[in-house]
Amino acid sequence: MEFSALYRGITISFLSAVLSVASFVPQQALAQKQPNTAQMPWMNKALSPDQRADMVVGQMTLDEKIQMVHGTGWGVLRAGAYVAPGSNLGAGYTEGVERLGIPGINMADSAVGIRMAALQSRYATLLPSTLGAASSWDTKAAFLYGSVIGREAWAQGFNMSIGGGLDITREPRNGRNFEYAGEDPVLAGIMTGELALGVKSEHVMSDIKHYALNDQETGRNVVNVLLDKRSMRESDLLAFEIAIALSKPSAVMCSYNLVNGDHACENDYLLNQVLKKDFDYKGFVVSDWGGTHSTVKAALNGLDQDEPGDDNYFSEPLKKAVEDGQVPMARLNDMVHRILRSMFDAGVIDNPPVRTVVDPFRGRDDAQHIAEESIVLLKNSNSILPLKAAASTSIAIIGSHTDVGVLSGGGSAQVDAPGGNAIDPKPGSSPWGQAIYFPSSPLRYIREKSPQSNVQYIDGKDTTAAAKLAKDSSLAIVFVTQPMREGQDAPTLSLPDNQDALVEAVAAANPNTIVVLETGGPVTMPWAAKVKGIVEMWYPGIGGAQALSNILFGDVNPSGKLPVTFARNDDQLPHPTVPGLDPNAKTTGDDGHHDVGPFDLKYTEGAKVGYKWFEATHKQPLFPFGFGLSYTTYAYSGLTVDDATRTARFTVKNTGSREGTEIAELYVALPSAADEHFKRLVGWERVKLTPGESKEVSIPLNPLYLSIFDTAKDAWQLLPGDYKVMAGASSSDTPLDATLHVQK
Ligand code: BGC
Repeated sequence: MEFSALYRGITISFLSAVLSVASFVPQQALAQKQPNTAQMPWMNKALSPDQRADMVVGQMTLDEKIQMVHGTGWGVLRAGAYVAPGSNLGAGYTEGVERLGIPGINMADSAVGIRMAALQSRYATLLPSTLGAASSWDTKAAFLYGSVIGREAWAQGFNMSIGGGLDITREPRNGRNFEYAGEDPVLAGIMTGELALGVKSEHVMSDIKHYALNDQETGRNVVNVLLDKRSMRESDLLAFEIAIALSKPSAVMCSYNLVNGDHACENDYLLNQVLKKDFDYKGFVVSDWGGTHSTVKAALNGLDQDEPGDDNYFSEPLKKAVEDGQVPMARLNDMVHRILRSMFDAGVIDNPPVRTVVDPFRGRDDAQHIAEESIVLLKNSNSILPLKAAASTSIAIIGSHTDVGVLSGGGSAQVDAPGGNAIDPKPGSSPWGQAIYFPSSPLRYIREKSPQSNVQYIDGKDTTAAAKLAKDSSLAIVFVTQPMREGQDAPTLSLPDNQDALVEAVAAANPNTIVVLETGGPVTMPWAAKVKGIVEMWYPGIGGAQALSNILFGDVNPSGKLPVTFARNDDQLPHPTVPGLDPNAKTTGDDGHHDVGPFDLKYTEGAKVGYKWFEATHKQPLFPFGFGLSYTTYAYSGLTVDDATRTARFTVKNTGSREGTEIAELYVALPSAADEHFKRLVGWERVKLTPGESKEVSIPLNPLYLSIFDTAKDAWQLLPGDYKVMAGASSSDTPLDATLHVQK
């Protein structure tokens, strides 16, 4: 044997010895004994998840079954609460059955990245807000988003992600809109489905939440949402239907609120009839934390797992209910089967997490890529953007702690900032109610892009001083923020803390003013006509400042479009004030929610959510759904619809002078028999075009998106008649139309 081959051999065996020790140590640390899987036929990967789950259920004792359908308590979420030995210090932990080779379920809150990483000195990537990512309309970006979450969860020892927020933006002031994917059920359903697929691609169980109609935080535990079945199926539930069909998520989290009289986690209509029967959903239903309100009713009406599980509904009381025959053993078996099949399906048993150091660089690059696609250019008068890097100008950067970082969303979607909050460094996990800034400084990257300019920063607290700096500069960029979090809604669409006055003052001092928004959702902009540029960057994540500066200086051509309508004022909304919100009510509870008593909330707008409401009521929003500008221009032509294949085709041309990606949108208005007075988004395509280039776009018309829900037949129905198909750049700019004929 040659020396080099011998050397290679030694090196390889040495390395594999090191590696096997390395992979052995963390497993020991997790105190998981390795079961003898050779004796376990369900470990045969050739069998289906259902077959494997059935085999395990057949081996389980009653106690083992009960153990799998409830969590082990609040754990690290509540100071002083019991923390189970197998817990990975996430939001929830449910014990497994070691003798059968079934690991416990370690759940990570992970709406926009893994929460509570600081507890174990771990790192987690902060992604742009989910609403931001939805602005990319890029299914690949949504998949990437989920895969970053899955990858980092797995590396940290979690085998389940509890993210995937999908409540549509029915209430634009909802504190959690930043965790969701916008107002349209088709866009939100597809983007969230792709996200959940991304999570599962990393052998981590996925979840979508909060099912259903948890569209505002005010009174979320006590509000009784009233909505007719047709509207429900065509709006909020449609988003879930689409995401579930696309991604087959491991879990669906039922929500805190009541729907038509019953809590969502014990709601026969929502869980049994719609989710499990109509959507043919095979995974398990997990309660939101503390969202379970009964034992027998919840079990019979479709809840499969109670979290965090110390309310004692699904532990001893469920065991007793099964022994008494109030809950049939077959139903308990079904609950356990659903959990196990999701575990086998996602691969958490075949590919259990191996602790690794999360790659922060890869995470940051992915987050920046998604942010670059999610930033929406809303106004660009006189082509004030992109900024010319070479020009020697003076730039005033104003407000929002731009010198140190970017804002993130709060609540259970809060990711711990590396080094602590950039504006108020505190050790440990991020406090619930605080606005947390991540160390991605727009000021720093704007300076880097523009070394010849004199870039000065002022915090904006003193409006007069800010206006003076703006006046003395050739250009002013004002940053405004809207901190949002779980448990609390914004009282109005207005920016908080007098920021409108700040923008007014700066715009009055300098005609070349650009406003950059870091908001959880839509806000009003009374100053919109007075500034030259408006850029919405949402909560942009850890790569946010680099992404923004790439957009501002034109290294990246903006392509994002709004997944929500921006109203001119609160009076334009179906509910001019947030229903039930009493800003003077005291805040209590772990989440600091406003303490309000039970109330009914009738969604009189029905399925007319967002742009549908605005169109049906003939209101002009500030910025419509689907709107977003580019540094180039596009023209639409030649829409045709093929009745036989139900396909729409049209051409998009880049009529400007630089490469760009246009999100080409397709809408349909149903025949008059549908009694609808708005158009529906039915598809889109992201079209990348060089200057002068044209491409034909071909979008299949999915019958589900064209159908009405017939409550008498309890089924979707594609009405015969003429459908007006429209293509264009936004919900209020559809220059092309053609007709789809649907025969009886
Ligand atoms: C939230 C869920 C979250 C859970 C666990 C609840 O307050 O509504 O979205 O996953 O807490 O932290």
